[in-house]
Amino acid sequence: MANAHQNPAEPHPSLDRVDGRLKVTGAATYSAEYPFENLAHAVLITSTIAKGRIRTIDAKAAETAPGVLAVLSHMNSPGVPAYGSVKLPAERAPVGTAFRVFYDEFIYFSGQPVAMVVANTPEQARHAASLVHVDYESEKHQTDFEANLSKAAVATSVQRNKTSPFQDYDRGNPDAIYTAEVKIEATYTIPTQHHQPLEPHAIIAVWEADDKLTVYDKNQGVKSAQGNLAQAFKLPRENVKVNSKFIGGAFGSGIRVWPHTVAAVLAAQKVNRPVKLVLGRELMFTSVGYRPFTVQKIAIGATKDGQFTAITHEGTGQTSTYEEHLERTILATRAMYVCPNVSTRYRLLNLDVNTPTWMRGPGDATGMFALESALDELAFALSIDPLELRLRNHADSDPERHLPWSAKSLKDCYRIGAEQFGWKNRILEPQTMKADGMLVGYGMASSLYGFHRHPSKAKAVLLADGSVVVQSATMDIGPGTGTAMTQIAATMLGVNPKKIRFDLGDSGLPDAPGQNGSSTIPSVGSAVHAVCKALKIKLLTLAVAIPGSGFADVRPEDVTVKNGRLFPSADSSPGIAYTDILKHHKLTQVEVTEESKPGAERDQYSMYSFGCHFVEVHVSPVTGEVRVKRVVTCADVGKIINYKTARSQSIGGVVGGIGMALMEESAMDHRYGRYVTTDFASYHIPVHADIPQIDVFFVDQPDPYVNPIGSKGLGEIAIVGVAAAVANAVFHATGKRIRQLPITPDKLL
Ligand code: MOS
Repeated sequence: MANAHQNPAEPHPSLDRVDGRLKVTGAATYSAEYPFENLAHAVLITSTIAKGRIRTIDAKAAETAPGVLAVLSHMNSPGVPAYGSVKLPAERAPVGTAFRVFYDEFIYFSGQPVAMVVANTPEQARHAASLVHVDYESEKHQTDFEANLSKAAVATSVQRNKTSPFQDYDRGNPDAIYTAEVKIEATYTIPTQHHQPLEPHAIIAVWEADDKLTVYDKNQGVKSAQGNLAQAFKLPRENVKVNSKFIGGAFGSGIRVWPHTVAAVLAAQKVNRPVKLVLGRELMFTSVGYRPFTVQKIAIGATKDGQFTAITHEGTGQTSTYEEHLERTILATRAMYVCPNVSTRYRLLNLDVNTPTWMRGPGDATGMFALESALDELAFALSIDPLELRLRNHADSDPERHLPWSAKSLKDCYRIGAEQFGWKNRILEPQTMKADGMLVGYGMASSLYGFHRHPSKAKAVLLADGSVVVQSATMDIGPGTGTAMTQIAATMLGVNPKKIRFDLGDSGLPDAPGQNGSSTIPSVGSAVHAVCKALKIKLLTLAVAIPGSGFADVRPEDVTVKNGRLFPSADSSPGIAYTDILKHHKLTQVEVTEESKPGAERDQYSMYSFGCHFVEVHVSPVTGEVRVKRVVTCADVGKIINYKTARSQSIGGVVGGIGMALMEESAMDHRYGRYVTTDFASYHIPVHADIPQIDVFFVDQPDPYVNPIGSKGLGEIAIVGVAAAVANAVFHATGKRIRQLPITPDKLL
């Protein structure tokens, strides 16, 4: 498909999404869509108070309502074996305890599941839920992050773990900040933000037997969900099947198994029928985590010519009273720039809220908003171009671990981004560029994201007709995993992609990590690469055994593949068709399974993805409205497997970053400890009209050390830094520095 905005340097054609047709025609089956005779429907009833206990639950009217099968709560739950039995008088869960659904009478947050109605139809369940009366005994709650900030402390899990990266960190002499020639210091605030995938979380739970469970569940890792459910219900791992073949978007909310999933499994046990639970949009705000409220204080000291001399970065994030969620908020500051004196502090504040979780670019999107905004403030104070300031402090090796980078083309990203954007047209002084009565601002920011590769397995099966099935229990939450893997396999085997099928999203497939931390292509892509290589060698062995095939004494590394044929060397012909190899040996198929995992290279090199974003905003001097007019984004993530899906991935990240910068805020009414923004009318995310042209570029140089395919992660780095680039552009347009996201019009007037 012709595309005007495609990277002109695209070296190879991108495969169209292998499941694109299934998705756009509605033929793809999502978790809530699996048909079951006898399916029962569940509706959750959630706490209306933020802290206290349940005195009684009156479910009589609901239980006798039409179609109702059960009203489940802590009073009659079959119980989750791993929770243990309730000891009376029960005590509140200590920090470090995952929330236990329908376990005891305690309320930890508003929106907590307290009961569940199961009925023959969704309507009957919803009606009956309205008849359940829960009587609470309230206690005073604390949900206001800023009002309680002084109570923040080092996380207990960090206190216990002396090697935790969240320990207080000092490099050189942090007091150098006091004697810096030039210094800026500022506090940046990011409110709670929620993942908003189009598909809300949903599950169908089916007990096939007393000890055999199958779930059709929206999540980001079938293997981890399988492990968690097996552990919770004390079942052998292989007795739990998790199917998550299609996911309608997820940004971290599907990494864990959440209480609602366990609740649905309990309900299916209770009524002895398959049970479906679909979370409405409102429940998405209290059921599946969120990006935590965060306050960060940063100070940067520099010489007059812009050399950093000291950086201090303190970050505090919110968590629940029962669990500690830690994220990378302050970590990027140690690795991003050359600076001899660096200190970081990380604190947590326990509040009467549900536990936060990872949300796209977790910690780094947060931390880099502060660091890259502070850099821009320093550039202004020094009258140095913000891009030039970054170049002057570029880290040629990892200043934290004192290791060489495995590869780093950030300077190329800066150059490509600046050229494509026209950064040289920027006037240094803010509030000087105007167009059509609007204030015009140019802003930029850098991005980085750590490299994650996990052990992964893949199986490849060559069939008698020459088609290939590749399988791995990986996921596709949207980026196009199957497409990229098909492309890797097609290249490795010299087989037409149309003859390759890639299976994922099923816990019965070979072991693979969940889709998180931008780890899928680096991990599973390496496994697919390895298994295809092994299949090729197996085919060579079979070819050698065919008399007169011309493969005797051929070394594996000299073999080439093309059009489903094996050749002894690059310039030899005619080679032998895979189908003929099988035919000769009277085989119906050849099957190989391989594992690929990281090795010692992790201790020899520091591995990150890098990138940058350039943004133009127009700000109305009358209304304070900010319009993002265009974005140029460039990433160095090693080798690009598929330009089309990679470009989409980058665009999605930028859109998320624009939402973070200008719109997204989960507002709470602290009188009740409840979110008031629980729909798309009140929780704003960008719509098409908010999104301008986004031009995506990649350096596309294989990283020689990360893995055999040379690819690093892209999903998270796509959002990291975007909010800072927007905020910096807003400052350039208006001269107003907004340090509290989102940058809504009221803050600019
Ligand atoms: Mo991502 S926050 O690891 O889904």
